[in-house]
Amino acid sequence: MKRVGAGVVGTGFWGENQVRVLRQSPKCNLIGICDSNRERARQVGSKYSVPWYTNVREFLRIPEMEAVTVATPTHTHFQVGMQILEAGKNLLVEKPMTGNQEQARKLDAAASKKGLKLMVGFIERFNPGVRFVKELLDRKAAGEVIIATGRRVARWPVRIGDVGVIKDTAIHDIDIMRFLLQDKVSVVYAQTGSLKHSFEDYAEIMLRFSRGVTGFLDANWLTPRKVRTLIITGSEATINLDYITQELTVENSKTMTKPHIRWDEPLRLELEYFIKAVSNDLDPIPSGKDAIEAIRVCETALKSGKTKAVCQN
Ligand SMILES: NC(=O)c1ccc[n+]([C@@H]2O[C@H](COP(=O)([O-])OP(=O)(O)OC[C@H]3O[C@@H](n4cnc5c(N)ncnc54)[C@H](O)[C@@H]3O)[C@@H](O)[C@H]2O)c1
Repeated sequence: MKRVGAGVVGTGFWGENQVRVLRQSPKCNLIGICDSNRERARQVGSKYSVPWYTNVREFLRIPEMEAVTVATPTHTHFQVGMQILEAGKNLLVEKPMTGNQEQARKLDAAASKKGLKLMVGFIERFNPGVRFVKELLDRKAAGEVIIATGRRVARWPVRIGDVGVIKDTAIHDIDIMRFLLQDKVSVVYAQTGSLKHSFEDYAEIMLRFSRGVTGFLDANWLTPRKVRTLIITGSEATINLDYITQELTVENSKTMTKPHIRWDEPLRLELEYFIKAVSNDLDPIPSGKDAIEAIRVCETALKSGKTKAVCQN
């Protein structure tokens, strides 16, 4: 069986995880990694016994490389992503796919024009718990859904980042709600602020989906204990998911059931799907279009937070 030649650009905190997973994947051959920080590139390359590069252009000349993942800081995603597409490689870019909607549209258009796969790193789509919730909703196990409530909070070190908690963190919940409800966000209201970081570090966001369901998101980088949960409230049952443990409960007036879900690493499932999409010519999902929509909602939330107004999306 032919293995897909793959590479990783940006091997910092998150990119190293991608290197670890791709190195172990039986369907892929991790040909090289690239980080502009020489010491970091050398360190990760040596640890995983993979050839390392510091220059993206040179790295992209490796002819057998068909699929590249990007885990550089957000402000570089557009430029690095474009370079990869121009070199004719399929691309998975970490979330947020780009710093703004305009760049996201351009990147998506460039991938379509070149006939290359463009996937975005909305890792929670591959969380086995989320997949189970989707199945429950598809068979109307919760009845008519009224509200989806997402909480994603943790204490995050104060470091110079390039986006705030909305585009970095709440974006996961925005994408998951769009995916689970299979609907578009029409109206957004957000309260945002910054207590410790240079960008907003807390946000409470209310979404109105076009069919009337509410989404409520509580995201911050301040709460001492890491919590990542989702509650779907419907007319017949409430579904509770812990994204971290992947435990799920379904409650109605009489019973509380706890379906057994086998824990699996979402990053492994995500990257294996990307590799499979490249080798078997499958649709890249979550796609560039999903990335654009999520960034759009983030930008509407940021606008609402600033103007204190309810904003059409
Ligand atoms: N999906 C997830 O759950 C998840 C989790 C964490 C981080 N992320 C995303 O991953 C990305 C990276 O985050 P991080 O925390 O690993 O950052 P980081 O700062 O730890 O790592 C970024 C690395 O990219 C390198 N780099 C910077 N510019 C470069 C360039 N032009 N070419 C090559 N290398 C370059 C840096 O030297 C650094 O080693 C961000 O977009 C972040 O949102 C996603």
